[in-house]
Amino acid sequence: MENQADISKVVRQHAEIDNFFTGGFTHKGKSSESQAPQRQDDAAVAKAAKELEKIADEVRQCCKCDLGSTRTYAVPGEGNPNARIMFVGEGPGADEDAQGRPFVGRAGQLLDKVIAAMGLKRNDVFIANILKCRPPGNRDPRPDEIINCFPYLQQQIEIINPEIIVALGAPAAKTLLNTNKAIGQLRGQFHDYYAGLGSTPIKLMPTYHTAYLLRNYSQDNRRKVWEDMKKVLAELDLPIPEPHNN
Ligand code: URA
Repeated sequence: MENQADISKVVRQHAEIDNFFTGGFTHKGKSSESQAPQRQDDAAVAKAAKELEKIADEVRQCCKCDLGSTRTYAVPGEGNPNARIMFVGEGPGADEDAQGRPFVGRAGQLLDKVIAAMGLKRNDVFIANILKCRPPGNRDPRPDEIINCFPYLQQQIEIINPEIIVALGAPAAKTLLNTNKAIGQLRGQFHDYYAGLGSTPIKLMPTYHTAYLLRNYSQDNRRKVWEDMKKVLAELDLPIPEPHNN
């Protein structure tokens, strides 16, 4: 009998994880947008939008490192200036470099599914990267490139002041948390991100990058990302979507 209960639990978990990545979720109640408290008044949001656009302009003209001469388009980041959640990736790939927008390739399509499974729209969140320009051949970012570029992201975080940052993958998590720990060790629990000396920490949830998930598309990895996102929703007091029972 107990065995039967265990099997049903495993089957339910598998269905939940499959649904998470295929959009098979029921979102009860009002949309997440209308449930989200108004964090800032309209004037403050307009001011934040203006400040973010100013940074985006600087990024588009930036030539602080060699990537300024190899990029097609810089990718400053985009989204809601009043976002409760910021997703931060590593840096633009070929698709992002060609369009000047973050997470628009295959990894981005999977991120869109993650956001939708959370009951959110891409427009509810802000999406950015540690590096604003694509390293040629998608090589790893060099330390000097990160040092030059990171202040743009730090300013974006300060302006948006999100309640939660989701760091996608090791380079984002390690840079934001200033640690050398592995992503497998960091993910699954909240850490503190400090925007500046004496500032109130922002909760940061590291999780696997969607590009890593695409390369390692196991139930276990998908379950871990979904568990991490459920913690984010719970922290924000947002409803946890329920998987369809079919
Ligand atoms: N991977 C990233 O880290 N960022 C993007 O914008 C796209 C893919």
